[in-house]
Amino acid sequence: MAQEEIEKEYAKGDFHIIWKPRKCIHSGICVKKLPEVYLPDSKPWIRPENASVEALKAQILKCPSGALTFREEGAEGGSVKPRALQARLVPGGPLMIKGDIALEVEGKVEHLEGNTAFCRCGASSRKPFCDGSHKEVDFDS
Ligand code: SF4
Ligand code: FES
Repeated sequence: MAQEEIEKEYAKGDFHIIWKPRKCIHSGICVKKLPEVYLPDSKPWIRPENASVEALKAQILKCPSGALTFREEGAEGGSVKPRALQARLVPGGPLMIKGDIALEVEGKVEHLEGNTAFCRCGASSRKPFCDGSHKEVDFDS
């Protein structure tokens, strides 16, 4: 059974970072790119006030899983949407989908926007999504 989606927002004026923990694959890219903004051991763990909107956007667009997106009040859309759906197999890791999809689980349809990482190794505690657990198991296909 799919877990409930949790969605949190962190605002810097009209700019809002949207965080969906269920989609995170713990790549750590956010923390590496903007360590002054993403503080995993603090609460709140995201501090958008510590970087410019341009820097926040550039980093969010590098989030591989779609766990981080953004929206701007008065602006269209919250993330860059690709023209066509793209799928990529990460060796030893997830199936990455780039583009909006409708996911049906046990008859319930969920609309997922942007990037989504699906578990292929079977070890994720948040299936069908990858949670980074493939790094802890012997999975190399
Ligand atoms: S998947 Fe996105 S939110 Fe999760 S650690 Fe990586 S960059 Fe950060
Ligand atoms: S592929 Fe990442 S947890 Fe399974």
